[in-house]
Amino acid sequence: MITDDIFLELHRILPRFADEQVFLITDENVAHHCLPRFMEQIADFGTLMLNTLQRHTLVLPAGEGEKNLKTVCQIWDWLQAEGATRRSIVLLLGGGVVTDTGGFAAGCYQRGIAFVNIPTTLLSIVDASDGGKTGIDYGGLKNQIGLFRPAEENIIWLPFLRSLPAEEFLSGWAEMIKHALIASPLEWNRLLGFDLEEYMTRPDEALEEEFRAILMRSMEIKRYVVEMDPEEQDMRRVLNLGHTVGHALESVLIERGEPRPHGYCVLWGMVAELYLSHVALGFPEAVLSQLSRYMKDYYGAPGFTCKEYDKLLERMRHDKKNTDERISFTLLRHIGSPAVGSHVTDDEIREALDYLFSL
Ligand SMILES: NC(=O)c1ccc[n+]([C@@H]2O[C@H](COP(=O)([O-])OP(=O)(O)OC[C@H]3O[C@@H](n4cnc5c(N)ncnc54)[C@H](O)[C@@H]3O)[C@@H](O)[C@H]2O)c1
Ligand SMILES: [Zn+2]
Repeated sequence: MITDDIFLELHRILPRFADEQVFLITDENVAHHCLPRFMEQIADFGTLMLNTLQRHTLVLPAGEGEKNLKTVCQIWDWLQAEGATRRSIVLLLGGGVVTDTGGFAAGCYQRGIAFVNIPTTLLSIVDASDGGKTGIDYGGLKNQIGLFRPAEENIIWLPFLRSLPAEEFLSGWAEMIKHALIASPLEWNRLLGFDLEEYMTRPDEALEEEFRAILMRSMEIKRYVVEMDPEEQDMRRVLNLGHTVGHALESVLIERGEPRPHGYCVLWGMVAELYLSHVALGFPEAVLSQLSRYMKDYYGAPGFTCKEYDKLLERMRHDKKNTDERISFTLLRHIGSPAVGSHVTDDEIREALDYLFSL
């Protein structure tokens, strides 16, 4: 939940745990930008608790490269060395890498101890920290090992976002665009009409309020979908819009040594997948053009040549969301009307990539 007072939220939870059983995991950037403000926010717990928490803080290096088993072992070693028990609680302060990795480590430690997510990136607020999925990358593939395990609480304090680099902000915004597209034309027009440029450079109170309202709506859309299908049997797959092509682009870019934020890849993926929606399901061309223009204005275009299409198709074929040999897409008939498990021909996928890379 979005809160104006982290102390109040934690005060509902932490008294159930002994002071010496509270732990905190973060990463180096968040430790620099957010941890001091976090400590200020919870000063009312008193110096004893704050001193313990300071001793019980693990600062990980930043970045997706840390979302692996080695980091998880490091967390387990640390918890064990510090005497964590089944009655311990871990506060996860950071972006999706910290909440995914920390949540998985806590979810396995002594068969599972409590953890609280305190997301500090827009992407982790609208996506990663909420929905009960935790996990790490393994064998060169993303999110291969993990648990469905919800956090005790998800505490969102928007001032943390002020230190977020613009690219990271836009990465989260792309997932919000996705939520709007799967929800309704009303949500879509609201996002499109929001003065993002102004908000990112000179936010005033009215824009802050509008942003907060859009964000809350976006979180509600995700929560609604997750509650209908917590373990991703069917309906939750609507959230995969843009991700089949997006993950393929993301992994090839990582391999090239030119990684781009996840949300950028999802936005590019959505352009290609709305093109496919248009071809296969008659999705309106006007909305495809709107998204393409938005992409050019804010996200730029990825550089790929047709020589790389086979590799991209190969990655799509190995997506863990496929249930058989065929590539499975979440497409849209129109805004607010997703069609999960859609199939198209390889030629249509190539055509969609041509469209995306020609913008
Ligand atoms: N579990 C899920 O359902 C789910 C959903 C979507 C994404 N994810 C995962 O989330 C991860 C991506 O999350 P992310 O985009 O938050 O990445 P991230 O955690 O790597 O954070 C991005 C960068 O921003 C820095 N940062 C974080 N907060 C900051 C702040 N307030 N000020 C300044 N810098 C800050 C981080 O140190 C990092 O360098 C991926 O691993 C993805 O797989 C999980
Ligand atoms: Zn995503």
